[in-house]
Amino acid sequence: MIANPYQPLTATITEIIDESPTIKSFVVVPRQPFKFATGQFIELTLPGQGEAPFTPSSSPSVTEKMEVTIMKAGRVTGLLHECQTGQPVGIRGPMGKGYPVDDFAGKQVYIVGGGVGLAPIRSLLLTLIDRIGDFERVVCRFGARSPEDFIYKPALFGSWKQIQGLDITLTVDKANGNWSGNVGVVTTILKRDDVDISNAVAVVCGPPIMMKFATLKLLDHGFAPNRIYLSMEKNMSCGIGKCGHCMIGKYYACKDGPVFTFEQIQNYPNIWE
Ligand SMILES: Cc1cc2nc3c(=O)[nH]c(=O)nc-3n(C[C@H](O)[C@H](O)[C@H](O)COP(=O)(O)OP(=O)(O)OC[C@H]3O[C@@H](n4cnc5c(N)ncnc54)[C@H](O)[C@@H]3O)c2cc1C
Ligand code: FES
Repeated sequence: MIANPYQPLTATITEIIDESPTIKSFVVVPRQPFKFATGQFIELTLPGQGEAPFTPSSSPSVTEKMEVTIMKAGRVTGLLHECQTGQPVGIRGPMGKGYPVDDFAGKQVYIVGGGVGLAPIRSLLLTLIDRIGDFERVVCRFGARSPEDFIYKPALFGSWKQIQGLDITLTVDKANGNWSGNVGVVTTILKRDDVDISNAVAVVCGPPIMMKFATLKLLDHGFAPNRIYLSMEKNMSCGIGKCGHCMIGKYYACKDGPVFTFEQIQNYPNIWE
């Protein structure tokens, strides 16, 4: 963290990757190496326009550049989608608490994701892949609206499929022409025997409605609430526990999260909104 938490570190967009009709990944090179833990987030500033929180989608082991995957949602994300390479930006952070990867060692890791929720998951997966032998199995169940809406297609349909110890199943809400996989929302591919629940942790990230129903299904399958990790994307402003925009009960999502266990937040109202 740099000295003044409101002062962004200057950086430059060096590459832009079209991931899906509404999502782009931006490779951002900071003025100096930038360290983060997987699951932590940053505030990305577009000078003179504003900033918004995003979770880096790249591996934390690479500090000289960072990838951020951004869905066009409103004003700042819309302006970011119009940027070209060479665009100066700012990075504040890293903020919050990420995934407790060391606690996952020796366990089966069950990752459920959808839409742009694959952004933090990609960072986590790259971290797990770096030390894949430390985990009993890594099982991924990912969904998208249609085949075109999947992000990270070269990895999902190619390189990640080749990794031993990594088991990936994809589903789409609506199929088209060449799709031969499952059709249905992501909960339709969550099966009780996908993992050995007595020695597994689950990680869920995606749109709130997907997170809600995936969590309910995992609980129904027998997952303990303290073994389900959720990445909570509450509306945020300061990102450092000052403004109170991001409260979940007694927690600041920006400081105490964004990664929480379901046990921590299950009793608070409106957690899925
Ligand atoms: C910790 C964290 C990590 C995130 N990581 C990513 C990421 O990796 N990639 C990504 O594409 N998005 C991510 N988001 C969501 C992203 O921050 C919002 O899409 C962005 O702030 C919208 O800004 P805007 O100015 O474009 O939209 P606005 O013009 O402010 O709003 C447009 C619409 O987006 C909604 N919105 C605003 N802020 C959020 C929010 N925080 N979450 C959900 N909806 C919101 C508004 O309610 C409104 O409906 C993350 C959010 C948080 C809190
Ligand atoms: S975003 Fe300001 S307190 Fe969390």
